Formats: sequence, structure tokens, C-alpha cells
Amino acid sequence: MAYEWDRLRVPGELSDFEQKWARRNDPYCFSGVWRFHDLLPFAPLRQCVTVGEGQTLLHPSEGVARYVGITPGRLYLQYEGMNPSGSFKDNGMSAAFSHARMVGARRAACASTGNTSASLALYCSVTRLMKAVIFIGSGKISYGKLSQALDYGALTVQIAGDFDDAMARVQEVSRELGIYLVNSVNPFRLEGQKTIMFRVLEALGWQPPDWIVVPGGNLGNSSAFGKAFHELHELGLIDRIPRLAVINAAGANTLYELVEHRGLRWNAGRPNLDVSDAYFAEMNAKHERASTLASAIEINRPVNLTKCIRALEWCDGVVREVTDQEILDAKAQVGAGGMGCEPASAASVAGAKKLAAEGLIASDDRVVCILTGHQLKDPTATVAYHSGDPKKFEEVLGSRGVETTQFANHPVAVPNNLDKIIEAINTHDH
Ligand code: F0G
Repeated sequence: MAYEWDRLRVPGELSDFEQKWARRNDPYCFSGVWRFHDLLPFAPLRQCVTVGEGQTLLHPSEGVARYVGITPGRLYLQYEGMNPSGSFKDNGMSAAFSHARMVGARRAACASTGNTSASLALYCSVTRLMKAVIFIGSGKISYGKLSQALDYGALTVQIAGDFDDAMARVQEVSRELGIYLVNSVNPFRLEGQKTIMFRVLEALGWQPPDWIVVPGGNLGNSSAFGKAFHELHELGLIDRIPRLAVINAAGANTLYELVEHRGLRWNAGRPNLDVSDAYFAEMNAKHERASTLASAIEINRPVNLTKCIRALEWCDGVVREVTDQEILDAKAQVGAGGMGCEPASAASVAGAKKLAAEGLIASDDRVVCILTGHQLKDPTATVAYHSGDPKKFEEVLGSRGVETTQFANHPVAVPNNLDKIIEAINTHDH
């Protein structure tokens, strides 16, 4: 989506947006998406839908900086789990939902690994403007997310298949039944997700960091972040574009394979898509399926692949893959600092650690890791980790490859006896 900026009202400086906060009793000024409306002006503001999204936080974390291996004070965590539905999805949903309303949609649909569906269901139930139809696979949706869709009253269709199957079906069904599709194939979603970067800049006094590190699933965020920086740079509102690192789970590493091993590139608008076509044909022939306990990013066929490689070119980006073990250890480190995250989110921290070890991220670089979803989205994975028993992952999550739980905070079992309880507390107090 391209704007004719010279016909629009664009602020002279990014700091002009700060004036909006003084008027936060106006819901459009309060919204962390719509206070940046001038930078995503696809709809008149009065038509835009807000449920108070985007009240998120950028937090420096010394513990996580040490874990990643960079100078304490240089690493920041962007907590998108603080959104109303508990994930970054509300940024994009407010925008797509606004467009759906503009075109008079009565029903909206998505396929989801859980967070998009929670967000759509929330917007539908809060506003009563539309009915939500959501498609989920029958695999690993976490209960936190499923419970949201059910609670908010969405029609929940559980397909016998995985996310990639659900994604393919929802596109067919939406076309057939004329239902508005809100997956991130929808360009308006990406417009809303640009504002995550605007808020990061805002929290850093409008100074771009050196690195943005983000988990990659369907690649909506990475695509949106690249567009945000490209536009800000073109408008002269920033003088430098941060580097982008997109982190795949090793069990769902299409982007990593294609970019780092097979040379897929945007090539200034002439992407060599024969490379990705061949890869997907191979994947089909082998009946290969994504598999990671970071269920939110268990995706092998990212719908925004082409936009993402464009973002990688604009932001001098890199892609890495991290194992479930690395994800869970990083997640425990985030949690230990308070305000945790769900497994997929911690891929950003695990990826930053890898890039710091390679020396690509320098110890004095300013690094922002995006924590995409709230800790409470997936308590099963958290409790399994802290039980200290890696077999639990196979048992409760059907996931292999987790060997150790080195940062586990075990629950202490004691008999129901005062002396024993006191003894246990004295023994374990640290
Ligand atoms: N982190 C979380 C917590 C997510 O829920 C998702 C995607 C991602 C990262 C990946 O983001 O697609 O922009 O690369 N979840 C989608 C869903 C697929 O259905 O909720 P992306």
C-alpha cells in the first residue's frame, strides 16, 4: 500500500506526535495505533475502530542484556503482550477491522495459531460491528488463546490439519462466502503493525536503535516494520534505518532456509521467486510439516514472504533460526525479569543471543527485541519448563528436542506440616 504523501498532512517531526498524549481523553489520541493516524491515513479517522490498543511498554532489561551478551542498558524489550487481547495482533486488527467496517463487512474471518483469532474475536465482541469466524488447526493451539476465542463468542472452526491447511481453507471460504479476511495477507493489518515501530521510536526519544529483533511466523511484523522505517526515511523523519533480524523456530524455518541458504532476495523489486517456488514444491513432495513448541510461529508457508524479503533489503536484514531449547531458555530469562512472554516471543531474545555470539550485534549496539505475546497465553509450556522435567514437553506438548531446563524454578513439594514447611522455606530461601 503506497500513499501520496505530498497530498497528505504529515508531521514535520516525529516529536509532533507527543502533543496527542495531552489529549488522551480522546480515544483516537489514547490509542497507540491511531495517534499515528497521519502515518497510516487509509481511512478517515472518524471511521477507525479502537478498543484502546497499543498501550505497550519498552523496557530496558539488564538481566536479558547479560544473557544475550551485550552491555547492560543497551537491550530493550518491547512488551506487546500488554495489548487488550494480550498480543501484538491488536495493532493490525484495529486497522483491518476499520477497513472491514468501511466496506460494510458483516462477518470477518481468519486462520490462526491463536493470537490473531483472539484479537479478531475481541474486536467483534467489544464493538458488536461484525461476527467473527475463525479457523484453527487441530494441533497445538494453546489453551490461553483458544479460551479467548470461545469466551468472546467467535464461531470457531477446528480443521483437521495444521495452520498452513487452515490458512489455505480460510482464503477459499472467504472468497466463496464473501467474508472479510483479516489475516496478514490483508494489507491494512500491516499498516496497523507499523505503529509498533513508531512506539519503539517514541520510547527511545525518536532515536532509531541499531537492531530490531522479531520472531518470524507469517512474516507480517517484519514486513510492516520494514515498511514503517522505509516510509519514515523517505519522509525525512528518521535519518537512519535500524537493521532487522527475523528469527524463525528451527522447526518452522522457511525464511531462514530461503534467505540464508538459497539466496532468495528482493533484488530491487525483481525477487527470484523461482527459488521459493522450488522450495515449496520440495516441501510438498516430502509432505513436510512445521513443528515447534512455539506454536504461534509453527508456520511453513508464510503468506508475507515476498514483503518480508523486501523489508530485509530495506533494513539490511538477517535471518536466524533457534531451537525450542534456545527459545525456552530465553523465555525463562525474560520471565525472571518480570512481565514474561509466550514461547514464540522469546525467539527474538534467543536470536539476539545468537547474533551477539556471532559478533554481528556488537556489545554496545542498542537492541530492541519484540515480545509479541503475553506470558499467560501459554502457561502449559512455562509450567512444563519449571517442573524441571524435559520429558514433560513430550507428555503435555507432544514436542521433542528439549533436553535441559537450566533456568527452571522448581515448585517445592512439602507435606502439610508446619515444621516441614518452615524447613523447606529456610532450605530454599535464596
Ligand atoms: N509471535 C506471536 C505471539 C504470534 O502469535 C505470531 C503469529 C508471531 C509471533 C509471528 O508473527 O506472523 O507477523 O511473523 N501468530 C499468527 C496467529 C500466525 O495466527 O496468531 P508474524
